[in-house]
Amino acid sequence: MNQNEAPFLEAVQAYADAGIVPFHTPGHKQGRGASPALVESLGPRALRIDVSDVLLSPRYNDSWTAALSAAERLAADLLGADYCYFLANGTSGGVHAMVMAAAAGRKIIVARSSHRSVIGAVILADAWPVYVDPVYDPELGLWLPPPPAAWERAMDAHPDAAAVLVTYPTYEGVALDLQRVAEAAHARGLAVLVDEAHGAHFGLHPALPPRALALGADLSAQSPHKLLGSLTQASWLLGRRGRVEQDAVAAVLGVLQTTSQSARG
Ligand SMILES: Cc1ncc(COP(=O)(O)O)c(C=O)c1O
Repeated sequence: MNQNEAPFLEAVQAYADAGIVPFHTPGHKQGRGASPALVESLGPRALRIDVSDVLLSPRYNDSWTAALSAAERLAADLLGADYCYFLANGTSGGVHAMVMAAAAGRKIIVARSSHRSVIGAVILADAWPVYVDPVYDPELGLWLPPPPAAWERAMDAHPDAAAVLVTYPTYEGVALDLQRVAEAAHARGLAVLVDEAHGAHFGLHPALPPRALALGADLSAQSPHKLLGSLTQASWLLGRRGRVEQDAVAAVLGVLQTTSQSARG
Protein backbone atom coordinates (compact mmCIF):
# COMPACT_ATOMS: atom_id res chain seq x y z
CA MET A 1 0.00 0.00 0.00
CA ASN A 2 1.13 3.52 -0.74
CA GLN A 3 1.26 5.36 2.57
CA ASN A 4 1.80 8.66 0.76
CA GLU A 5 -1.79 8.59 -0.49
CA ALA A 6 -4.55 10.39 1.40
CA PRO A 7 -7.73 9.13 -0.29
CA PHE A 8 -10.23 10.67 2.09
CA LEU A 9 -8.61 14.10 2.19
CA GLU A 10 -8.32 14.03 -1.58
CA ALA A 11 -12.04 13.20 -1.95
CA VAL A 12 -13.02 16.03 0.35
CA GLN A 13 -10.73 18.48 -1.41
CA ALA A 14 -12.21 17.44 -4.74
CA TYR A 15 -15.66 18.19 -3.32
CA ALA A 16 -14.51 21.63 -2.09
CA ASP A 17 -13.04 22.47 -5.49
CA ALA A 18 -15.98 21.18 -7.55
CA GLY A 19 -17.90 24.47 -7.43
CA ILE A 20 -20.96 22.82 -5.90
CA VAL A 21 -23.81 25.06 -4.72
CA PRO A 22 -24.90 23.23 -1.57
CA PHE A 23 -28.57 22.44 -0.99
CA HIS A 24 -27.54 20.15 1.83
CA THR A 25 -26.23 20.18 5.39
CA PRO A 26 -24.32 21.65 7.12
CA GLY A 27 -26.35 24.85 7.36
CA HIS A 28 -23.36 27.15 7.09
CA LYS A 29 -23.22 26.22 3.36
CA GLN A 30 -19.47 25.89 2.93
CA GLY A 31 -18.95 28.88 5.25
CA ARG A 32 -21.28 31.32 3.47
CA GLY A 33 -23.70 31.32 6.39
CA ALA A 34 -21.15 31.06 9.18
CA SER A 35 -20.32 33.93 11.48
CA PRO A 36 -17.42 35.99 10.08
CA ALA A 37 -15.56 35.47 13.36
CA LEU A 38 -15.78 31.69 12.91
CA VAL A 39 -14.62 31.93 9.28
CA GLU A 40 -11.71 34.09 10.38
CA SER A 41 -10.77 31.74 13.22
CA LEU A 42 -10.94 28.47 11.27
CA GLY A 43 -10.07 29.80 7.83
CA PRO A 44 -12.48 29.64 4.87
CA ARG A 45 -11.04 26.38 3.55
CA ALA A 46 -11.80 24.51 6.77
CA LEU A 47 -15.47 25.43 6.38
CA ARG A 48 -15.50 24.44 2.71
CA ILE A 49 -14.40 20.93 3.63
CA ASP A 50 -16.71 20.69 6.67
CA VAL A 51 -19.07 18.26 4.99
CA SER A 52 -20.60 14.96 6.00
CA ASP A 53 -23.66 13.33 4.53
CA VAL A 54 -23.54 15.50 1.39
CA LEU A 55 -21.21 12.88 0.07
CA LEU A 56 -23.87 10.31 0.73
CA SER A 57 -25.89 11.78 -2.15
CA PRO A 58 -26.11 9.36 -5.09
CA ARG A 59 -23.56 11.36 -7.00
CA TYR A 60 -20.90 11.16 -4.29
CA ASN A 61 -21.84 8.03 -2.43
CA ASP A 62 -19.19 5.90 -4.04
CA SER A 63 -16.37 8.34 -3.59
CA TRP A 64 -17.22 9.02 0.08
CA THR A 65 -17.53 5.43 1.21
CA ALA A 66 -14.75 4.18 -1.01
CA ALA A 67 -12.40 6.98 0.06
CA LEU A 68 -13.17 6.47 3.75
CA SER A 69 -12.66 2.72 3.54
CA ALA A 70 -9.45 3.20 1.60
CA ALA A 71 -8.13 5.60 4.25
CA GLU A 72 -9.08 3.19 7.05
CA ARG A 73 -7.38 0.33 5.23
CA LEU A 74 -4.21 2.41 4.86
CA ALA A 75 -4.27 3.16 8.60
CA ALA A 76 -4.81 -0.52 9.44
CA ASP A 77 -1.92 -1.50 7.19
CA LEU A 78 0.41 1.08 8.75
CA LEU A 79 -0.55 0.15 12.30
CA GLY A 80 -0.48 -3.65 11.96
CA ALA A 81 -4.25 -4.12 12.37
CA ASP A 82 -6.72 -6.30 10.48
CA TYR A 83 -9.11 -3.35 10.43
CA CYS A 84 -9.40 0.25 11.59
CA TYR A 85 -12.40 2.49 12.23
CA PHE A 86 -12.01 6.26 12.41
CA LEU A 87 -13.84 7.64 15.44
CA ALA A 88 -15.65 10.95 15.80
CA ASN A 89 -15.95 10.87 19.59
CA GLY A 90 -12.35 10.48 20.65
CA THR A 91 -10.94 7.37 22.25
CA SER A 92 -13.84 7.48 24.71
CA GLY A 93 -16.07 6.29 21.86
CA GLY A 94 -13.62 3.50 21.05
CA VAL A 95 -13.48 2.35 24.67
CA HIS A 96 -17.28 2.31 24.84
CA ALA A 97 -17.46 0.29 21.61
CA MET A 98 -14.81 -2.27 22.66
CA VAL A 99 -16.55 -3.09 25.92
CA MET A 100 -20.01 -3.21 24.33
CA ALA A 101 -18.74 -5.52 21.58
CA ALA A 102 -16.69 -7.85 23.77
CA ALA A 103 -18.28 -7.91 27.23
CA ALA A 104 -21.94 -6.82 27.11
CA GLY A 105 -23.71 -8.23 30.15
CA ARG A 106 -20.53 -10.08 31.20
CA LYS A 107 -17.68 -9.62 33.68
CA ILE A 108 -14.72 -7.51 32.60
CA ILE A 109 -11.44 -7.06 34.49
CA VAL A 110 -10.28 -3.43 34.64
CA ALA A 111 -7.85 -1.33 36.67
CA ARG A 112 -9.46 0.78 39.36
CA SER A 113 -7.38 3.66 38.03
CA SER A 114 -8.97 3.44 34.56
CA HIS A 115 -10.11 6.55 32.71
CA ARG A 116 -13.76 7.46 33.24
CA SER A 117 -14.58 6.34 29.69
CA VAL A 118 -14.00 2.78 30.97
CA ILE A 119 -16.53 3.32 33.74
CA GLY A 120 -18.94 4.76 31.17
CA ALA A 121 -18.35 1.74 28.95
CA VAL A 122 -19.14 -0.66 31.79
CA ILE A 123 -22.42 1.20 32.41
CA LEU A 124 -23.34 1.29 28.70
CA ALA A 125 -22.51 -2.39 28.22
CA ASP A 126 -24.29 -3.45 31.42
CA ALA A 127 -21.03 -5.25 32.23
CA TRP A 128 -19.81 -6.35 35.67
CA PRO A 129 -16.46 -4.72 36.56
CA VAL A 130 -13.83 -6.70 38.45
CA TYR A 131 -11.27 -4.20 39.70
CA VAL A 132 -7.53 -4.66 40.03
CA ASP A 133 -5.67 -2.09 42.09
CA PRO A 134 -2.90 0.21 40.88
CA VAL A 135 0.26 0.49 42.99
CA TYR A 136 1.47 3.79 44.47
CA ASP A 137 5.18 4.53 43.99
CA PRO A 138 6.14 7.04 46.68
CA GLU A 139 9.48 7.78 45.05
CA LEU A 140 7.93 8.76 41.73
CA GLY A 141 4.78 10.13 43.38
CA LEU A 142 2.75 8.17 40.80
CA TRP A 143 0.10 5.48 40.69
CA LEU A 144 1.56 2.69 38.56
CA PRO A 145 -0.57 0.21 36.61
CA PRO A 146 -1.52 -3.00 38.43
CA PRO A 147 1.31 -5.54 37.94
CA PRO A 148 0.70 -8.57 35.66
CA ALA A 149 0.41 -10.92 38.66
CA ALA A 150 -2.57 -8.89 39.94
CA TRP A 151 -4.31 -9.27 36.55
CA GLU A 152 -3.60 -13.01 36.59
CA ARG A 153 -5.04 -13.37 40.11
CA ALA A 154 -8.21 -11.59 39.01
CA MET A 155 -8.50 -13.82 35.93
CA ASP A 156 -8.12 -16.93 38.09
CA ALA A 157 -10.70 -15.67 40.58
CA HIS A 158 -13.19 -14.84 37.78
CA PRO A 159 -12.98 -17.58 35.13
CA ASP A 160 -16.36 -16.40 33.78
CA ALA A 161 -14.95 -12.99 32.73
CA ALA A 162 -15.22 -12.14 29.04
CA ALA A 163 -12.34 -9.70 28.72
CA VAL A 164 -9.63 -7.64 30.34
CA LEU A 165 -9.29 -3.95 29.59
CA VAL A 166 -5.76 -2.66 30.08
CA THR A 167 -4.59 0.96 29.96
CA TYR A 168 -1.33 1.02 28.02
CA PRO A 169 0.40 3.35 28.71
CA THR A 170 -1.11 5.23 31.62
CA TYR A 171 -1.83 8.96 31.45
CA GLU A 172 1.64 9.50 32.98
CA GLY A 173 3.27 7.30 30.32
CA VAL A 174 3.93 4.12 32.33
CA ALA A 175 3.60 0.97 30.18
CA LEU A 176 3.06 -2.36 31.94
CA ASP A 177 4.12 -5.77 30.57
CA LEU A 178 1.11 -6.02 28.26
CA GLN A 179 2.40 -9.11 26.46
CA ARG A 180 2.35 -11.12 29.70
CA VAL A 181 -1.18 -9.94 30.56
CA ALA A 182 -2.38 -10.67 27.00
CA GLU A 183 -0.90 -14.18 26.99
CA ALA A 184 -2.47 -14.95 30.36
CA ALA A 185 -5.84 -13.64 29.17
CA HIS A 186 -5.80 -15.56 25.89
CA ALA A 187 -4.74 -18.75 27.66
CA ARG A 188 -7.94 -18.42 29.73
CA GLY A 189 -10.11 -17.51 26.71
CA LEU A 190 -10.50 -13.81 27.54
CA ALA A 191 -10.41 -11.02 24.94
CA VAL A 192 -7.77 -8.33 25.42
CA LEU A 193 -9.01 -4.76 25.06
CA VAL A 194 -6.56 -1.88 25.36
CA ASP A 195 -7.09 1.78 26.15
CA GLU A 196 -4.07 3.06 24.23
CA ALA A 197 -5.21 6.69 24.26
CA HIS A 198 -1.72 7.86 25.16
CA GLY A 199 0.15 5.41 22.90
CA ALA A 200 -0.75 6.47 19.37
CA HIS A 201 2.96 7.02 18.74
CA PHE A 202 3.96 3.55 19.96
CA GLY A 203 5.54 1.37 17.30
CA LEU A 204 6.12 4.27 14.93
CA HIS A 205 9.83 4.44 15.87
CA PRO A 206 12.15 1.63 17.01
CA ALA A 207 13.04 3.53 20.19
CA LEU A 208 9.40 3.52 21.30
CA PRO A 209 7.54 0.60 22.92
CA PRO A 210 5.56 -1.66 20.56
CA ARG A 211 1.90 -0.83 20.05
CA ALA A 212 -0.70 -2.92 21.88
CA LEU A 213 -1.76 -4.95 18.83
CA ALA A 214 1.82 -6.19 18.43
CA LEU A 215 1.70 -7.50 22.01
CA GLY A 216 -1.52 -9.47 21.66
CA ALA A 217 -4.38 -6.96 21.98
CA ASP A 218 -7.58 -7.92 20.14
CA LEU A 219 -8.85 -4.33 20.09
CA SER A 220 -7.08 -1.08 20.86
CA ALA A 221 -8.38 2.49 20.88
CA GLN A 222 -5.78 5.18 20.25
CA SER A 223 -5.96 8.98 20.37
CA PRO A 224 -3.94 10.29 17.42
CA HIS A 225 -5.29 13.68 18.49
CA LYS A 226 -3.29 13.46 21.70
CA LEU A 227 0.10 12.29 20.44
CA LEU A 228 0.06 12.70 16.67
CA GLY A 229 -1.14 15.44 14.36
CA SER A 230 -4.89 14.97 13.94
CA LEU A 231 -7.64 17.34 15.01
CA THR A 232 -9.15 17.09 18.47
CA GLN A 233 -11.59 14.18 18.94
CA ALA A 234 -10.15 12.26 15.97
CA SER A 235 -9.28 8.80 17.24
CA TRP A 236 -9.29 5.31 15.81
CA LEU A 237 -10.15 1.80 16.86
CA LEU A 238 -7.76 -0.92 15.71
CA GLY A 239 -8.78 -4.54 15.60
CA ARG A 240 -7.51 -8.05 15.08
CA ARG A 241 -10.00 -10.66 13.94
CA GLY A 242 -10.43 -13.87 15.90
CA ARG A 243 -11.75 -13.28 19.40
CA VAL A 244 -14.14 -10.34 19.00
CA GLU A 245 -16.54 -10.27 16.03
CA GLN A 246 -15.74 -7.38 13.71
CA ASP A 247 -19.45 -7.16 12.87
CA ALA A 248 -20.24 -6.57 16.54
CA VAL A 249 -17.67 -3.76 16.69
CA ALA A 250 -19.11 -2.13 13.55
CA ALA A 251 -22.65 -2.49 14.88
CA VAL A 252 -21.97 -0.79 18.22
CA LEU A 253 -20.01 1.99 16.52
CA GLY A 254 -23.08 2.59 14.36
CA VAL A 255 -25.16 2.99 17.52
CA LEU A 256 -22.68 5.13 19.46
CA GLN A 257 -21.48 7.60 16.86
CA THR A 258 -23.05 10.52 15.04
CA THR A 259 -24.43 9.84 11.57
CA SER A 260 -23.07 13.27 10.53
CA GLN A 261 -19.38 12.73 11.05
CA SER A 262 -17.44 15.80 9.94
CA ALA A 263 -14.92 15.23 7.18
CA ARG A 264 -12.59 17.65 8.97
CA GLY A 265 -11.97 15.12 11.79
C1 LIG B 1 -6.16 7.03 29.74
C2 LIG B 1 -7.20 7.67 28.90
N1 LIG B 1 -8.07 6.90 28.22
C3 LIG B 1 -9.05 7.40 27.43
C4 LIG B 1 -9.18 8.77 27.28
C5 LIG B 1 -10.28 9.27 26.39
O1 LIG B 1 -9.75 9.80 25.22
P1 LIG B 1 -10.52 10.91 24.35
O2 LIG B 1 -10.28 12.23 25.05
O3 LIG B 1 -9.87 10.83 23.00
O4 LIG B 1 -11.96 10.58 24.34
C6 LIG B 1 -8.29 9.63 27.95
C7 LIG B 1 -8.43 11.08 27.80
O5 LIG B 1 -7.79 11.87 28.43
C8 LIG B 1 -7.29 9.07 28.78
O6 LIG B 1 -6.42 9.85 29.45
